[in-house]
Amino acid sequence: MSVASLPRIAVLPSQVADQIAAGEVVERPSSVVKELVENALDAGATAIDVAVEDGGRQLIRVSDDGCGMSPDDALLSLERHATSKIRRAQDLVGVRSFGFRGEALAAICSVSQLELETAPEDGAGTYVRAAGGAVAENAAVARRRGTTVRVARLFYNAPARLKFLRGARSEWRAIVDVIGSMALTRRDVRVSLSHDGKPVLVLPATSSLRERLAAVYGASFASRLLEVDDVSGTTHVAGLVERPADVGTGTRRTFVSVNGRAVRDAGLVRAAEAAYKSTIPAGVRPTLFLDVVVAADMVDVNVHPAKAEVRFRDRWQVERALETAVRRALGTFEAGATFSRGWTFATHVASPPVSPPVSSIDSLHDLRATPPVPGGGLFGGEHMRESAGAEPGASPNAAPDVPALQQWRRTYIAFEHEHGVVLIDQHSAHERVLYEAFMRDLESGAASGQRLFFPLTLHLGLAEAEAFEQHRELFARLGFEIEGFGGTTLLVSAVPMPHPRFDAERCVRETLAALTGDRETGVHARHERLAATVACKAAIKAGEPLSPAEMRALFVALRDTTLPAHDVHGRATIVQLTWEEIERRFGRR
Ligand SMILES: Nc1ncnc2c1ncn2[C@@H]1O[C@H](COP(=O)(O)OP(=O)(O)OP(=O)(O)O)[C@@H](O)[C@H]1O
Ligand SMILES: [Mg+2]
Repeated sequence: MSVASLPRIAVLPSQVADQIAAGEVVERPSSVVKELVENALDAGATAIDVAVEDGGRQLIRVSDDGCGMSPDDALLSLERHATSKIRRAQDLVGVRSFGFRGEALAAICSVSQLELETAPEDGAGTYVRAAGGAVAENAAVARRRGTTVRVARLFYNAPARLKFLRGARSEWRAIVDVIGSMALTRRDVRVSLSHDGKPVLVLPATSSLRERLAAVYGASFASRLLEVDDVSGTTHVAGLVERPADVGTGTRRTFVSVNGRAVRDAGLVRAAEAAYKSTIPAGVRPTLFLDVVVAADMVDVNVHPAKAEVRFRDRWQVERALETAVRRALGTFEAGATFSRGWTFATHVASPPVSPPVSSIDSLHDLRATPPVPGGGLFGGEHMRESAGAEPGASPNAAPDVPALQQWRRTYIAFEHEHGVVLIDQHSAHERVLYEAFMRDLESGAASGQRLFFPLTLHLGLAEAEAFEQHRELFARLGFEIEGFGGTTLLVSAVPMPHPRFDAERCVRETLAALTGDRETGVHARHERLAATVACKAAIKAGEPLSPAEMRALFVALRDTTLPAHDVHGRATIVQLTWEEIERRFGRR
């Protein structure tokens, strides 16, 4: 193109500018729903009714009982950059309302046939009709306080955009997601949703996330989630997360809000997921519903057209807070599986309206801070340092705060608690205890093992011998003294002694067999792998009788671990049956 024929610059007519802006804000029917619902929330609505037809492609109607608008404001609201929510650029810092740009209604209006009906408290009602951004009718009406916006034939004047709409089904699903996430963000608002004239969802207002989840996803789903509530520095994290024992058994759902705004933020989700490490198998991901509250000036909400992403001044701090909060929740005894899991009678019994928070044995986790008791025989060894170190000679029977324990089936340690009956799987529990002790040894230096009176000679396969060579130094840190005698023969002269019945030869053989072909290169991951493998092989097995002192020592050691309720493979270590549940089954409730 020659310079002479360069077209002149012209400022676009506002309708064209609005259509261009609409491309960013209004992607599909669900974005219209999101903007209208956010406006209703900003207007202080306590009830919002959403009705759509044909997946929102023909009609979207959002009604609220919020503050409404005066006749002048009703007209202004359709103009670009018309907002009541901020006045100056500074107001953007820490802005609390969902909207602040003053462009959503203008953008929607420019690509649809829009009707607006609104009235402030005791004020004059206004009706405005517009098409393609141009006002066609403006009249007074009588109506109660609040606002109704009808958006018909979205993209009727933008054929290129219309082509990109999906089928009604798919657009409808996106709308349901928007409403679901709004309903979780603002539990205090009553929400209803209908499709093609049929009511689909009615959510009463509530103050509790669990109740809202029960209304959205069902009471049994909601009642199984574990409560998170924790403050780190200036960051408050609260919500409900899946018990590790349940992860992978149903549809995975995640929801994160930051200062009351639902956000899509993979980094925050990953941080919360990191808390599950060593409690669930690799590859499965937990369900999470988390509200994050940070100081308003720590977060910039004006970085995404649909405000679905935020930017943090110190993201690392927020992510650590999330991980810590979730980890703390998983680190309680409550985090163990409950018997309601898989209970088939449940389907025949009318479910209670909305379950109260899962009854918990919460006084137990307070005990984790109490001084450890002297360990008894089986668990008094090197890897029970914390418990073995206290008051030599004191009788373990005098252990404070340890309930009366019984061994059942030579496999479970059972005890009664204020809120129910609790079972601990002795192998899983011991495995968890040893895993954490081995990890400390691997990460922090060397543990000393116990010399064997008669060193063991092991003849291995080639693969096992190679696995040993790869892990030689790490075995030493765990307290093993092993020499390779060339080729495939090993001489074991010292071993860690996690308990007197420890079968060192079998443990080394099985560990090496499990490690053959291990190509893990990350140092920490290698430590985890080895610690988990040795812990699994070294832990007492199901079927081994335990003395009362041994049970107490295991109980105390487990209580001191970071994740007592889960073993290294993500299976439950602790299972509880609440009195409430027992009473229900006996028909006492
Ligand atoms: N449902 C409603 N009830 C009362 N006032 C409303 C409602 N919807 C819109 N308004 C008024 O119209 C203005 C413009 O709305 P619009 O959504 O276009 O912009 P915004 O919400 O201010 O910012 P954003 O573009 O970020 O959403 C709002 O600032 C508000 O004053
Ligand atoms: Mg808005």
